[in-house]
Amino acid sequence: MALESPEPGAGDYEQYKDGFHDWLATYWPEPREQLHAGGWRRTEQMLADIKRHLQAHHQPHAGAATTAGPSATASSAAAAAPASGTGAPPPLGRPLEVMDICCGEGGTAVHLAATEGWRVTGVDIVESAVKAARVRAEAYGTVVRVACQYPCSGAGSSSSRSSAADSGSSSSSGVRLRLSYEAVSDRALFLHASIFKMPAPSDSFDVVYGQDPDGLANPDRVHAFREVLRVLRPGGLFYFWHHWVPGPGWPAELLAAYRADPMTGPAPRLSHEEYVQDVQAAGFQLVHVADCSQLAAEHLGAMAERVAREQQQQQQQQQQQQQRAQRAAKSAAAAAGAGAGAGARGGQSVAREGDEGRSAAREGGEGGEGGEGWTAMPISGWLERALHYSAQAGGSMGVHVVAVKPLSA
Ligand SMILES: C[S@@+](CC[C@H](N)C(=O)[O-])C[C@H]1O[C@@H](n2cnc3c(N)ncnc32)[C@H](O)[C@@H]1O
Repeated sequence: MALESPEPGAGDYEQYKDGFHDWLATYWPEPREQLHAGGWRRTEQMLADIKRHLQAHHQPHAGAATTAGPSATASSAAAAAPASGTGAPPPLGRPLEVMDICCGEGGTAVHLAATEGWRVTGVDIVESAVKAARVRAEAYGTVVRVACQYPCSGAGSSSSRSSAADSGSSSSSGVRLRLSYEAVSDRALFLHASIFKMPAPSDSFDVVYGQDPDGLANPDRVHAFREVLRVLRPGGLFYFWHHWVPGPGWPAELLAAYRADPMTGPAPRLSHEEYVQDVQAAGFQLVHVADCSQLAAEHLGAMAERVAREQQQQQQQQQQQQQRAQRAAKSAAAAAGAGAGAGARGGQSVAREGDEGRSAAREGGEGGEGGEGWTAMPISGWLERALHYSAQAGGSMGVHVVAVKPLSA
């Protein structure tokens, strides 16, 4: 029985299922582990932005070491390593706690856990994606971190991949090396959950990011923003972008048409302005809001090319199948004529050839299905309409927000 007033975001469990990522990846221009607009290039930009912010606003937390002294962990030293001019944050004395909302198959979370030494917790509503993310983290193996300590107490570090799993330290000319070996799967954790209800303690993350977090398309997204606010520590950073959202300044009539169109606007309250209002209503302080139309345009354009290519291939296949079916029908008719007096044997042969024609038609008539559990939607129609509306609105499509949880929250 349907709930009368379901929990905010509950409907997302119906929409996102196993098979969604297979379907999405069919049309996605970026690599499978990066199911967001802009791929790795955009992830690198996010990483630089986050580091810059941490560098500028870092506040040591109670109980955390503030310098990379002899007792500092190697990973904290690693976080501080490129001290000259790269904008890396000062060490916390523990790994940075980071959450990836709507993490998909975990490409970014695993990458950041391995290369930055951060502890990254990914959350996604699709169970098969969470399983794939865990496999990815296991498959990455072990990372060795090296922290150097010089007699004058300067600190530096580097990291490299290894399959070894020991730890130790060595000394030469007064320089001390401290090695630590970490399984990436201990640093990249994945939760099967909705961003509307996250099984994570309050005030526990330094940074929450989302790369095209589709859970935010839900009109009740303010509740998801409150969840993000809850899990962030005071002063913590929230960073996301979402690329198919009507951008700033769309005329009201065009926005209404986009929403009323069953292809493009199934989600009400889907606009750049409403996202920003909801972030503020949840209690965040805005740091930066930007239009990400350029990113959306590149991504949607590349997607449109893939869809067009696929349509062309499908048309060719259909033509070939029609030709096969016609040939089968012709030979069936010929066999029926020739075997009119030959009795049951000829009848069986006709039936078999007729079946061949039907199965060819079945293969040709269906296309674009996703895996089990996910009901594929006609992407070509959606894309065409989305591009049409965004062109009318001057290409404006997508929202990028950086916000912080107030220290007093
Ligand atoms: C466009 S994909 C982006 C995936 C990932 N961020 C990446 O860059 O590869 C959107 C993701 O949102 C997830 N999602 C949708 N609604 C969600 C919700 N309410 N809670 C958690 N994840 C959700 C989907 O399962 C999907 O993995």
